[in-house]
This record gives sequence, structure tokens and C-alpha cells, in this order.
Amino acid sequence: MRTDLDRPAAIAAVARDLYRNASPAPRALQSLRPFICPFEALLPWVPERGRMLDIGCGAGLFLGLVAQARPQITAIGFDASRGAIAAAQQMALEHFGDERIDFRYSAVEEAWPARPFDAVSIVDVLHHIPVDGQRTVVEQALAHVAPGGVLIYKDMADRPLLKAGWNRLHDLVMARQWIRYRPIEEVRAWVEQAGGTVIHRAARSMGPYAHELLVVRQAT
Ligand SMILES: C[S@@+](CC[C@H](N)C(=O)[O-])C[C@H]1O[C@@H](n2cnc3c(N)ncnc32)[C@H](O)[C@@H]1O
Repeated sequence: MRTDLDRPAAIAAVARDLYRNASPAPRALQSLRPFICPFEALLPWVPERGRMLDIGCGAGLFLGLVAQARPQITAIGFDASRGAIAAAQQMALEHFGDERIDFRYSAVEEAWPARPFDAVSIVDVLHHIPVDGQRTVVEQALAHVAPGGVLIYKDMADRPLLKAGWNRLHDLVMARQWIRYRPIEEVRAWVEQAGGTVIHRAARSMGPYAHELLVVRQAT
């Protein structure tokens, strides 16, 4: 088990290794991502063992890090981008050939992998989901968590406005999408109304990016 994934630079070094044989775009993007996304704040909330689901996993970096840091976790990630899933599958095959991580091309609007999971994560995905579908996605994510397990939710903050605007520009360029921020207080209310308990809440800035994190314990 790796215990040194507590700094962006250490995580970036792992990312470079995980994607060293990927094509140039995913290799560059995944190596830079640890400097704008605080994976070191998410990893400590992943349990030592069990099953994990990562919703909107992208090229699979978070689960790649989890597989390194938590050898007793098996995981499934799904994403609506064929290119991202291809990069994730190549990474998993090269580094975790024992099928510990399974990546699937699928959208949140389709059938989800069979529950339950000891941990479910959703990292920087909600702002890409249409507003009228966001609550359902959060409720479904919590419903896939086993009793006593955790939901790890992170998204971009809608404040301060300058940082929210910068991230909006980032997504216009990178995802060609006009994103829809959801205030974290609303997400908190949804999970609490669905029976979850917020056990951790944090905000963090990384350069021009503002992040918010909720960790939710599923009822036993
Ligand atoms: C900012 S990326 C985050 C990727 C990954 N979670 C990470 O942190 O590296 C947002 C991801 O959400 C995915 N996504 C957007 N809409 C989706 C949907 N309807 N169903 C599943 N994935 C979706 C995108 O394809 C993209 O990979």
C-alpha cells in the first residue's frame, strides 16, 4: 500500500507512470490534472478494502491512484466519453492486469453497475449534468453505497465568481460545454434527505480553481 500520495507532485509522478504509454493528449492531461484537482484530499476517504464505483471516471486517474494506494479495493469506473474510457482501459490493462479495475463506456442516464459499493465517488462530474438531472444522479450515487459505506463527492465551487468563471472558461475550451454549477448546500440537503450523514466538508483552492468536497456516510 502506498502512503505517500499526499501531495500533488507525488500524485503527478504516479500519473505520469500510469499513462506513460497513452497517446499524447491523455498522457499530458492526466499528468497535469493532480495540480488542479486535489486527489490527495479524496484518497484518505477511500476505505482499505471492498468494492468501489467511480461515476464519470474520465481516463481513470482516480481509480488508478486508488488501486496503488488501496491494494484490497476492486473498482468499476464508467464514463460517457469513449476516448476517456479507452485511455482508462489501456492504463488498467498495463498496470492492473488482474482486472482489479473495470472501466465501462456508459452514461449516468443509462443502467448503473449492480450495487452495493463500499465507496462511490463522483469527481467533477455534476456540473456537466443537465440541471434537471443533477439531483437524481446524486441520489442514485448515494443509493449505490452499502450501509455504512461512503459517498465521496467533489465538484467545482460556484464561488468566488472569478474562479468559477475561470473554470467555466476551462470547460468551454476543454469540454465545449456551458457548465451548470450546483451549490454545495443543495447537494448536502439532497444527501441528507436521502438518509446520508455528511461526515466531512472542505473547500480548497488550487491556483485559479476552487473546489468543494463532501464525504457522506450511508445509513446502516
Ligand atoms: C472533469 S471530467 C472528470 C473526470 C474524472 N472524474 C476525474 O476527476 O479525472 C468530467 C467527466 O464527466 C464525464 N461525463 C459528463 N457527462 C456524463 C454523463 N452524462 N455520464 C457519464 N459521464 C459523464 C465526462 O465524459 C468527463 O470524463
